[in-house]
Amino acid sequence: MTAITSLYELYYNVVCDGRFIFRIEKMHKKYDPDFYDEIYTSSVRKRDKEPTFVPTFGVPYAAVATVKHDVHRYRRSLLYEFFSRRSVSRLSPVIEERVGKLMSRLVEFHVGGEVVDLCGAFGALTSDVITFCCYGKSWGFLEDPDFRSDIRTAANDFAGVPPQVMAVLMPGKSALFEFQRSIFEHFSAVVAGQRITLTGGGGITIIKRLTSEAIPPSERTLSRLQDEGFTLIVAGTETTMRSFAFAANYIFQGYMVRERLRAELRQVLPTPTSTATWEELEKLPYLTAVDNESLRLSNAAVIRLPRVAPNEYEPSLQTPMSTSIYFVHHNPVISPDPHNFNPERWFKASEDFNLRKYLVPFTKGSRKCVGVNLVIMEIYLTVATYVRRFVLEIQSVDPGNIRVARDRVVGFPETGTLQICAKVKSTIQF
Ligand code: HEM
Repeated sequence: MTAITSLYELYYNVVCDGRFIFRIEKMHKKYDPDFYDEIYTSSVRKRDKEPTFVPTFGVPYAAVATVKHDVHRYRRSLLYEFFSRRSVSRLSPVIEERVGKLMSRLVEFHVGGEVVDLCGAFGALTSDVITFCCYGKSWGFLEDPDFRSDIRTAANDFAGVPPQVMAVLMPGKSALFEFQRSIFEHFSAVVAGQRITLTGGGGITIIKRLTSEAIPPSERTLSRLQDEGFTLIVAGTETTMRSFAFAANYIFQGYMVRERLRAELRQVLPTPTSTATWEELEKLPYLTAVDNESLRLSNAAVIRLPRVAPNEYEPSLQTPMSTSIYFVHHNPVISPDPHNFNPERWFKASEDFNLRKYLVPFTKGSRKCVGVNLVIMEIYLTVATYVRRFVLEIQSVDPGNIRVARDRVVGFPETGTLQICAKVKSTIQF
């Protein structure tokens, strides 16, 4: 049925609000999870995107929506130089400063006895980081009393809606364009007023790089810039925020996890306000297991990601292949009791098989997330800092409220959007 008509998918995604993924979960159970590496393979083998699927993203000129393998390679190469491990490491002082700001906001919540919306707070952090990457300036999301949410609103509108509906249903995207317009204005001021100090090839921002005269004019149109900028900002905000918020939810609801993690963190963070580098933190095995488990369960991208292999089959057999990261992360053979947050599984698994191979939040291969190094650095620095410094009391999160029930590109719960709130109960003194 699904092969014959897309109406079936349309019905479950539009009328039933993003539930097609669960209709096909059973069909996917019979597939070998190792086939994942065949679909999402390295750039040595060509992988196009499916032309009827990419409009879902609503950014036709961005790398993420580029159908042809070779054009994609070029667009991706322009981005990659900013997100290589070396470039991202140079961003460390910016991220540390923003994490420090988040900590001082949490102190304010503690003093005021108020409940903090963790998704808003972490979303403000990731928005500040990604706008700095793109435009050389953070927009003070963390300074805003309510952690302004323009980007998150746009991300939530950007929601796995079929292309037919996408064009008319994007109010959040227009809000983001307003925001981008303000960014362009500020960008000119920054260029005029001060030297731009950001990383990438030779201390320039991504936007400057994408407008460089070395790039063919057809590749630096306003539409290209808008779509690439929009993708980076949205992709860099909501997804990463979710891994921090899920981590906080599970860590602070699990006494054993929290205590073991804190004991390990004391090795590199001797006082609650000490700082450590990404290189130091990634050597900590338990923190690594906690971060892996948060990435596995935060379901940042559950949408199916179709690929076409143009050179490997007869044209008539070029059926798009796809699966969802959700199916790999929740496969009970790979991760027993898959909905349970259990960092121990990373130690146990390493005795039997390579569980890392099945951790694919960024997917794999030539179209893998370009921001992966940035995410990994952010998650190490952020989780370590807030766990070492605060005791959070999570406000009654029912597992049903965070479990994925709907596919809206990212995983959405049964009703509403993801909400994880906490009280900052105390600051740690030693
Ligand atoms: C936990 C955080 C994140 C997750 C789970 C995630 C996940 C993904 C996934 C699954 C894809 C593949 C999409 C597809 O095949 O169509 C992707 C692509 C992409 N992501 Fe991320 N992402 C995250 C954070 C970020 C960040 C921080 C950035 C900003 C730099 C970013 C920028 C991008 C871009 C530009 C692409 C398109 C890459 C290409 O087509 O070559 N992502 N991401």
